[in-house]
Amino acid sequence: MSAHAVKRLQISLTLNGERLEANVKARTNLVDFVRQECGLTGSHVGCEHGVCGACTIVVDGKTVRGCLMLAAQADGCAVTTVEGLAADPQWADLRDAFARHNALQCGFCTPGMLATLTEFIGSRSATSRSEIRDALSGNYCRCTGYQAIVDATAEVMVARGAKVTS
Ligand code: FES
Ligand code: FES
Repeated sequence: MSAHAVKRLQISLTLNGERLEANVKARTNLVDFVRQECGLTGSHVGCEHGVCGACTIVVDGKTVRGCLMLAAQADGCAVTTVEGLAADPQWADLRDAFARHNALQCGFCTPGMLATLTEFIGSRSATSRSEIRDALSGNYCRCTGYQAIVDATAEVMVARGAKVTS
């Protein structure tokens, strides 16, 4: 192998419920893989170093930064992008609440926000607005000021029977 040869790896994963085999460059990150090689462009790329949350993807039921995880590390995993989350009723409730509350403007942050919040509301039967804000602290939104996002999340949680305090 020459000094400049690109190392590639064979991986096998489940992507949005479908089995997939792929041959990936060892250094390709997960969000670039799903966007560029699988055509799933709903996950966005902002900072590319784990700060903004735009690339948030669900791997084996937990949210991860798609820019900080290599595609090769997803070998054997179940990966769900925003396109796959659309089938999740909690995600759909959040999406509708975001629309009602005008909780998005440009929408760049929204797929990551929805992934984070779907995980959050699925793990809580009670929360506070302050805790919702904490949950969103890794997802940057430059447009909305967050108030409407918190309102939409609280509304969905209350409708699902959770107690939400201020
Ligand atoms: Fe991954 Fe910003 S693009 S956290
Ligand atoms: Fe524009 Fe959040 S709606 S960054």
